[in-house]
Amino acid sequence: MKLKTAVLISGNGGNLQALINAANADNNYPAEISLVISNKLDAYGLVRAEKSNIRTSIIDHKRFKTRDGFDHEIHSQLIQNKIDVVCLAGFMRILTPDFVIKWHGRMINIHPSLLPSFRGGNAVRDALDYGVKITGCTVHQVIPEVDSGKILVQRSVEISENDTVDSVADKIHIQEHIAYPEALKKLCSHILANR
Ligand code: GRF
Repeated sequence: MKLKTAVLISGNGGNLQALINAANADNNYPAEISLVISNKLDAYGLVRAEKSNIRTSIIDHKRFKTRDGFDHEIHSQLIQNKIDVVCLAGFMRILTPDFVIKWHGRMINIHPSLLPSFRGGNAVRDALDYGVKITGCTVHQVIPEVDSGKILVQRSVEISENDTVDSVADKIHIQEHIAYPEALKKLCSHILANR
């Protein structure tokens, strides 16, 4: 039994690729990546999905007058595609509480810091500026408060003297691509065990 998973992206899709690879590598992986939704037409993650024969959909947020309208369209497509679980992976839109509550316990996000430190859009730079010696990534349940919610998996990286935002981000990406498949497996196994 596999849970149908949608991945929401806005860009490169490195985490999407890690999820696709994990699902392909293991027959017993409890999720299948069934749908990729992007709010950006030129997101490279769409190419990755197409290469793996995964259904894609572009929902341009600029076509909608309100956040509710945009989120309603995403929700409809998730339902139409019988999606069980949602992964936010570099999805650069804040979702409305109404939408988030509908997917409570079934939607996770990846963030490039050890939450609850360094929430927000500049997590890597903020960690570097603060002078922390260890940072990392976190996969967490999505709740209405941004970059909050119960933590499923964290992985750490060390920051050294010569590190830059780019070099730290590169180290974090390597850990993200291990953490996200592990977290999705954990979530799906938990949902399946409690059905
Ligand atoms: C990742 O660093 C993730 O933590 C953040 O956005 C980035 C997305 O990268 N939320 P990618 O598109 O998965 O390569």
